[in-house]
Amino acid sequence: MGTNKYPGKELYPHLFSPIRIGNIRLKNRIIAAPTSPHMLTTQGHLTAEMVAYLEKKAMGGAAVVTMGESIVHSATGKSHNKQVQLDSYGVKLMLNEATKAIHNAGAYANIQLSHGGKYGGLASVGGTVLDTSVTAWGVSDEVTPEGVVHEMPTAMIYEIIESYKNAAILCKDCGFDMVQVHAAHGWLISQFLSPGLNHRTDEFGGSFENRARLLLCVLDAVRAGVGRGFPIEIRISGDDMSEAGLNMDDCVKLAEMVDDKVDLFHVSCGNHEDPAMFCRTHPSTFFERGVNVYLAANIKKHVSKPVVCVGALIDPAQMEEIIASGQADLIAIGRGLLADPYLPDKALHGRADDITPCLRCYECFGEIVKSESIKCTVNPVIGQELADKRSCRMAKQKKRVLVVGGGPGGMEAAITLAQRGHQVTLAEKSEKLGGNLHPAGSAFFKEDIRKLCKVLENRLREADVEVLLNTEVTPAFVKELDPDALIVAIGSTELRPPIKGLDGDNVVMSIDAELHPERLGKRVAIMGGGLVGAEAAISFKHEGHEVSIIEMKSEIAQEVNSFYRGGLMPFVYDAAECYAGTTVKEIVPQGVLVERDGKEFVIEADTVVCALGFRPKWQIADELCSMVDESYIIGDSRNVGQIYHAISQGYYTALQI
Ligand SMILES: Cc1cc2nc3c(=O)[nH]c(=O)nc-3n(C[C@H](O)[C@H](O)[C@H](O)COP(=O)(O)O)c2cc1C
Ligand code: SF4
Repeated sequence: MGTNKYPGKELYPHLFSPIRIGNIRLKNRIIAAPTSPHMLTTQGHLTAEMVAYLEKKAMGGAAVVTMGESIVHSATGKSHNKQVQLDSYGVKLMLNEATKAIHNAGAYANIQLSHGGKYGGLASVGGTVLDTSVTAWGVSDEVTPEGVVHEMPTAMIYEIIESYKNAAILCKDCGFDMVQVHAAHGWLISQFLSPGLNHRTDEFGGSFENRARLLLCVLDAVRAGVGRGFPIEIRISGDDMSEAGLNMDDCVKLAEMVDDKVDLFHVSCGNHEDPAMFCRTHPSTFFERGVNVYLAANIKKHVSKPVVCVGALIDPAQMEEIIASGQADLIAIGRGLLADPYLPDKALHGRADDITPCLRCYECFGEIVKSESIKCTVNPVIGQELADKRSCRMAKQKKRVLVVGGGPGGMEAAITLAQRGHQVTLAEKSEKLGGNLHPAGSAFFKEDIRKLCKVLENRLREADVEVLLNTEVTPAFVKELDPDALIVAIGSTELRPPIKGLDGDNVVMSIDAELHPERLGKRVAIMGGGLVGAEAAISFKHEGHEVSIIEMKSEIAQEVNSFYRGGLMPFVYDAAECYAGTTVKEIVPQGVLVERDGKEFVIEADTVVCALGFRPKWQIADELCSMVDESYIIGDSRNVGQIYHAISQGYYTALQI
């Protein structure tokens, strides 16, 4: 058997060894974790875009693609406004389309059977309940800030158990190869398991065995529905990490109880609905990659069935080590496959250095809340797979294209242009590529951004783009080169508002401060508590400085998506003295003179960092564009935005040429 075609099999022999789960044989150990955007109809049916989204994950080489939360009893169980409703008339057609697409691309199709419990009638994290007439049915009576929860009557519990069975049958009929019962993250089954929430006096409350009864009944019902051999996966907690929930020992006990009822354990943790826990369930950039693997390893010691681990895993070498060392049998990847669905395929082909890293910025979640679709900072295609399928890969006419600016937008544009057959020159003013990825990636917790920069540089090299460093592009330069098309990606400049003292020796602009921390004194006052200022504070504290943040708005990092903000703010509060609702009056030799609630005072500092934002370089951009008939402006030089805007505009502009 020749293995050279697939160097990954030699590099990661455990990761790429097949495994049997029930009656199916997985080609490798990588499972696409459930990650559900809401690209659904209001009846809870999949749209064609959703099918394409799932199909893409299968095309990328995962052995199993898991459709996320699908509600078995939609009258009581929808934890978000739009979710797949497995009891809704007409749901089958597109489920069937999805499984066919997944199968045709070489993977098995899995679906998560779920019920939101009390969140079926309460606003959940990242969602509001539009229909306020919906009653919240939970394990026990409860009054929460979001509303009143009513204890489920026993008869309703049996009805819901039956709906698990019906849903499982429906999914099998629609071509799913396995089902996953969601018993973690604080939803219905997890609410029943919780000693803090479950105060029932019937057979579903009281002892551990009684609290686990719902889960056991659900697993029996699902088995009765799908029959012997059909794989049932359970998503279980390794530790709820909260007073009200299960601890590690409880989770082991539970796993032992269900060992003979399931074919696969999938060990997650925490709680979706606890903002403090969200960033552990979906590990933030402040945690090491694989931070939750120990929980799977703990369960694995006590069960006979294979175990899946999950949580911020993107490096095939680390995955290999986890399996080789016996901590888990399989790896589930959530965001890593949004950032790069081809991660498994790249690992298989020995191309790990080409994997686009997930930055753990939570913009994917933010977008679900905002628009019910999905986006990814580093993957311009996600959520638009349908359109991407139709887009013309190779350019109809080969052109000479000049891209000005080597930040993420310029690099993405140049790579895509070259891949489409154009002859591309990328000119960058400074001595290196990356633009604002360098200051943004300088903090100790921003390794992912540094990796992204490397990946894009490698791709540029491979795409055969001519790169000119130390080259400031002027209108005369453009005239001389005379390209057929021009993309301007020259970024932005830092805002320097007319604040008295801003020219003083004690002031450092934010980019300079991040790239040259040696220029900072012991006490640092950051003017501007947006994302840049907030993250800089953590970084400066880490380097031994005493930090304060001054922000005019009522909150620090107010504009940041709530998911990232939840993980960020504890570190910000730990790192800095925060002065929100505070206006800068003047920079003085002792620090910054400010005003809050009508009172003026000085925040003492040796160095004042100016992080008051950026503005696009419209004038230069316009001048350059005036030199070429076909011209485009992207990224910060179009409008100041995020890495997402730069990369997305770079990609889609390149497709227009
Ligand atoms: C956009 C998105 C949607 C998700 N939807 C679900 C879901 O429907 N059900 C679920 O159990 N977990 C869901 N998750 C959690 C993932 O399955 C996974 O456990 C988590 O993201 C941690 O893995 P990762 O670090 O590889 O992303 C979702 C995650 C993301 C990013
Ligand atoms: S949006 Fe951010 S967190 Fe989500 S997958 Fe993309 S890079 Fe990762």
